[in-house]
Amino acid sequence: MKKIGVLTSGGDSPGMNAAIRAVVRTALKKGMQPIGFIKGYNGLLYENYMEMDWSSVSNIIQRGGTVLKTARCKEFYEPEYRQKAYENAKAMGLDGLVVIGGDGSYRGAGYLSELGLPCIGIPGTIDNDIACTDYTIGYDTAMNTVVECVDKLNDTSQSHERCSVIEVMGRHAGYIALNTGIATGAVQIMTEEIPVTVEQVAENIERTRGYGKDHFIVIVSEGFGNPNEVALKIQEITGIDSRATILGHIQRGGNPTLRDRVVATIMGNYAVNLLEAGKTNRVIAMKDHHYVDYDIQEALAMKKGLNMQFYDAMLDVSC
Ligand code: F6P
Repeated sequence: MKKIGVLTSGGDSPGMNAAIRAVVRTALKKGMQPIGFIKGYNGLLYENYMEMDWSSVSNIIQRGGTVLKTARCKEFYEPEYRQKAYENAKAMGLDGLVVIGGDGSYRGAGYLSELGLPCIGIPGTIDNDIACTDYTIGYDTAMNTVVECVDKLNDTSQSHERCSVIEVMGRHAGYIALNTGIATGAVQIMTEEIPVTVEQVAENIERTRGYGKDHFIVIVSEGFGNPNEVALKIQEITGIDSRATILGHIQRGGNPTLRDRVVATIMGNYAVNLLEAGKTNRVIAMKDHHYVDYDIQEALAMKKGLNMQFYDAMLDVSC
């Protein structure tokens, strides 16, 4: 194994740079030439890449975003484009590829592995919605950003005796909502996984009002529905002045936390070790605090859900 590529694909997440750095430096240590592909699979398809050396990843471990840039590559849905990407890889003498991203990115890596290019996936997304792993790079930083923002909204909600309805990211998964709901003392979270109506939320608000609470936080996961409508309805039912805030892409930026830097570094190093050992079509995961790897197709077929113990605890403590 002499030349290996690395790319970031899908939505960016804080810690991706730390993973790129680990891949590049581990490869160099093993005498391999690392190549960085720009804008995900587009870089492979349109031959947009750079040879990387030790200093090309200097001073990036602490930076959010991805120095390789990222994108979702629609062409990769078509077999002829995947074939073209594979041929480009072969023509440039690429012996392996590390893909940092989510489920969609793993699919691309699975196709390229099938064609004969050894690929290893690393979970990078703020959503934590990859079933095979307990943790995805960027999740911790994103949640800390949410907590910081909600604490600020809480201050003004308290002054005005309002209800603050806050939409957080997560695509179809409520992991960000659940944990930040616990950490910010939310009266309720609303996610696709948990069937809760606005009427029930209003009931919880009324109950805690009975205990003397005069301001309220409701966290809505983006897949659930429109936070403005939720706020309006809460106001209609309870008479409490309510405001909606959509946190949006601010959740994807910022310096990665210690946890994201460490996980990204261990996974980046692990990925290159797997390629060196001749492995292909694998994804790296964290299971019960251990780093493991799975077959890509097996990983994509796995399921995981919200931890209902956490949800029940949140309800017990908040309302
Ligand atoms: O997957 C990460 C994520 O930030 C999701 O939480 C969100 O639904 C989506 O990406 C937003 O994507 P885009 O960057 O295309 O707006």
